[in-house]
Amino acid sequence: MQGAAGKSDPTYGARHIAIIMDGNGRWAKRKHLPRALGHKKGVEAVRNIVRVAGEMGMEAMTLYAFSSENWSRPEEEISDLMGLLRQYIQSDIDEFVKNGVRLKVIGNYRALDSDIVTMIDNAIRKTAGNDKMTLAVALNYGAQDEMRRAVQHVASRVKQGELEPEAIGLEHIAGALDTVDLPPLDLLIRTSGELRLSNFLLWQAAYSELYFTDTLWPDFDKAELEKALQSFGERERRFGGR
Ligand code: IPE
Ligand code: IPE
Ligand code: MG
Repeated sequence: MQGAAGKSDPTYGARHIAIIMDGNGRWAKRKHLPRALGHKKGVEAVRNIVRVAGEMGMEAMTLYAFSSENWSRPEEEISDLMGLLRQYIQSDIDEFVKNGVRLKVIGNYRALDSDIVTMIDNAIRKTAGNDKMTLAVALNYGAQDEMRRAVQHVASRVKQGELEPEAIGLEHIAGALDTVDLPPLDLLIRTSGELRLSNFLLWQAAYSELYFTDTLWPDFDKAELEKALQSFGERERRFGGR
């Protein structure tokens, strides 16, 4: 449908894509390597895909890096993941600045270790003026928790007399979500063959196109992203109309 557009526009008109980056552990297991190495390869895949999406002219990309449910993993794995996060922010911030990438974090990241919170706040500040692509990283993110915080915010506005309960509209809820300044979510990708959303962007995905691939996250590359976008380009989006 949008084949011709695809030739000139590698995003096929997608303004905002999100990825559930799953399968690091299985990637490592298949290669008889420790899980930590799977996560390390996963970070390399992130680095590559951020670059590729930027080059394509994507407006925004949201990556699920650590869920509010991932705290139930063994302490050692959590500590490996947090270590990789520290390294990633330190090593890639200059490239963000160079490539015009604005960093944003969704999720309750303030509950992470205080040194990580400081690093994140500095990185956000340093890239705030960039306007080529917004990279939103979901950290300690759960869509249900995001909605809980949004309800809390709207309720406090009601309590202060700023808003009547009957006047609460979709825009008040959407406006209180972490994704408030991102374009509508066009395409949601999940790697590793799992067919579920695992508490990711439940509100935002209302009319997103979904794309599932068996490819494990560390193997997800430019060609895989092109395949997902091509599939998106072939979809007929109706938004309830006819
Ligand atoms: C995704 O890979 C990374 C995170 C959830 C942090 P997994 O660690 O979930 O890998 P699998 O699903 O066990 O293969
Ligand atoms: C979803 O993957 C979370 C991230 C990719 C960060 P999980 O591996 O945690 O999801 P489940 O447990 O298979 O649903
Ligand atoms: Mg997983």
